[in-house]
This record gives sequence, structure tokens and C-alpha cells, in this order.
Amino acid sequence: MSISLIGKSISVSATLKLNEMAAILREKGEPVIHLGGGEPKTKAPVEALIAAAGMINSGEVRYTPADGIPALKKAIIRYTEEFYDRKVEPENVIASSGAKQSLMVALQAILNPQEEVLFPAPYWVSYTEMAKMIGAVPVPVYAEDGSFYPRMKDIEQRVTSYTKCIIINSPNNPTGAMYSADFIGEIVEFCEKKGIWLIMDDIYHRLIFDGKKPINCYKFAKDLSENSKLVVINGVSKQYAMTGFRIGWAVANKRLIEVMTNIQAHQTSGPSAITQIAAAAAINGVQSGVESLRQTLENNRNILIDRLNAFNGVKSYKPDGTFYTFADFSYYMKDSTKLSKFLLDKVRVLTVPGIEFGMDGFLRISTCGTVKDITEGIDRIKWALDPDAPNEIYIGERKLVRDWL
Ligand SMILES: Cc1ncc(COP(=O)(O)O)c(C=O)c1O
Repeated sequence: MSISLIGKSISVSATLKLNEMAAILREKGEPVIHLGGGEPKTKAPVEALIAAAGMINSGEVRYTPADGIPALKKAIIRYTEEFYDRKVEPENVIASSGAKQSLMVALQAILNPQEEVLFPAPYWVSYTEMAKMIGAVPVPVYAEDGSFYPRMKDIEQRVTSYTKCIIINSPNNPTGAMYSADFIGEIVEFCEKKGIWLIMDDIYHRLIFDGKKPINCYKFAKDLSENSKLVVINGVSKQYAMTGFRIGWAVANKRLIEVMTNIQAHQTSGPSAITQIAAAAAINGVQSGVESLRQTLENNRNILIDRLNAFNGVKSYKPDGTFYTFADFSYYMKDSTKLSKFLLDKVRVLTVPGIEFGMDGFLRISTCGTVKDITEGIDRIKWALDPDAPNEIYIGERKLVRDWL
């Protein structure tokens, strides 16, 4: 069949594939524990639900402006002022169908084919595929010391005359690492000096732990005029537990937003009217849900890390935020795809292979589930991998005997 080169180069979304496998097993009655998820289990804010229901009941659900409805833009402007101490105008804002679309149209507006986009590794799976979709070149940057915290030196070494854009995702999916204020300051300054676009993917913005505060990139910018090449991405998916509503946004200079709007207009038109109204209500509503989600995630993170530390062969790293932990399981198996499949097959625990994020030997384990999911899931993994664990375990009603160690 004649399929385009770009089309053929795009890999299947590993997380979606794993979700499908888990759903099939669950349908068969298998006791699957899902530690692969990337969405909170809490409900969407009640204000969002009421607003969405109100619009549906009105029966008047129409097309929206390609860059989003004024009410949502107003809420985003207020959010930007409150959390970034930055005043912007409606022309500096675009609302999209998820932060994913904001990122994609930003990259389409910025990059020519063959130009390079840099991002620290491990990285969110979509950055590489998004770059490939526009014929651009994804360049993951690994920290020389093997840590999750790249230094400016690591980035600078990979910058070439083709480098048009850098994406920084902090706190980071999959590691949960939050980069230091010094690093953010350095990268803002570096990009300004070199005229490189800097996209801050702040989707996990307020979901941070240990009393840490979000780092405001604008604080380090010397140029906040309409020439600024700083782009901030955010959305309601993670903080407001509204993944299925599909609303994200970008804040940037007016010219870039205009071009992004033109692209989005031909791609999908404006985002859904119903979910824009809901997102505006969530952003303007009571914010206690964000804090209680943050507290739950911090508690889950503590439980997960304690549990992982009980493994001799696992190296775990305490995440600063998000709902992920990226743990080194290479002592047990170097091939993370095989290991992830082995754990699903043997003990019905779903994890995401580190190779999907650019680092083999690791597994991404999510803290979105319940405490019971986390403790039981890790106990099952330990039983499957650790020769010192008793060789029998009960999974649901079923007694399993380990015969592979
Ligand atoms: C780092 C990162 N950026 C962006 C997104 C996309 O979020 P949205 O659901 O708003 O498209 C995700 C979702 O997993 C993510 O992890």
C-alpha cells in the first residue's frame, strides 16, 4: 500500500497500545493493576460539569473562533497573571484541543523541514513524533552525568545552526524531575541570546511536592516585548483532572499566535464549545481540587518510593512532581519493552517501558491509581523479579507459584 514516508515513520503510541492490552485482559476478568496511567482518577471540578451541562441543555452548541472563545481566553489571561505574574492580551493566547495540539501547532508555526528541535531526555513520547510529523529533526539531549537533570553545557553541545527550538518540560514526564531555577534562568538567557524559540511545557505546573514552588520562566526573560520567543504551554488535563475535555493553551507573542491560529483553523477549527466553557469554569472556579490532587499525588509518591526502595535491584529516584516515577530496573532486565510485557504477562501489572521515553532499562510507574494499586502492584513486581521474595503469591483468588527464577 502506498503510504507517505512521514506517515510510516510515526510509531504507534506505546501508552495507548498498553492501555488496549490491559483493557482486553480486564474484559477477560484478569486482575490487572494499571500503573501506566497518565491521568488523575479524581473527578473534573463541579463548576466545569455544570457549565458543560448548561451549554448542552441549551441545545446551542456552535463553532467557536479558531483561537478559542473570549471567556476561556479571559480565564487563561487571569491564570497567567496569577501564576506567572505576567499580563498578556487576548492576541497573545490560543486555546487548542489539548496542550498536545497547542504544542503541535507551535512546532508547525516555528519549524521548517530539516530544522532541529532539542529537548532533554528522557522526554515525553510525543515530542519526537511531533517533530517527525513536520519533517523536522528531534534531538534528545542526555545529561552527561547520566542524571535526569541536564546542564546547560549538555544542551549547548547539541545546538547547531539548524537548532530552531528547545522544549523544556518541568516537572518532567516521565521522570517527575523539576529543573532548578538556575537551569531555567540559564536556558531562557541562552535562547534569548541565540534567537532560539523556547517552549516551556508547563502541563504539570502546580503538581509539585516537598513545598517546592513553580518556577516562572518570565522572571528570567530580558525581552518581554512582542519579539520574545518564549512560548508557555499549559492546559486543564492534568491539574484539573480534565483529560477527556481536551483543552490546552499557549501564550506567546502575537505574531506566533496569529500563525498558530491560521494553522489550527485549517486543522480542526476552534476547540469544542462545550469543553471550552467547562475549562473556563474550572480555571475560574474553586482551586481546592488542584491542591487536594497534589497532596494525594505526593502521598502516593512517598508510598511508591518506599516500596521501590525495598528492592535491592531497583534504583529509584524521588520525583519532584507529576504523577510518574522513572525507576531503573536494568539489573533485572535491560530490555524495558520485554520487562514491561513480562510483568503484564506474569503478574498482570502494567508499566510503561523506559525506551519509549528514550532510556532503556527503566520503567515509568504511575501514581495516579489508589494506594492499594500502588502497594499491591509493586508487591507483585517484586515477587516476579526478586529471588528473595517467597515463591508463592495470591493474585485475586488465584495462587501463583513462581517457576522462572
Ligand atoms: C509532557 C506533556 N505535555 C503535554 C501533554 C498533553 O496534554 P493534553 O492532554 O492537554 O493534550 C502531556 C500528556 O500526557 C504531557 O505528559
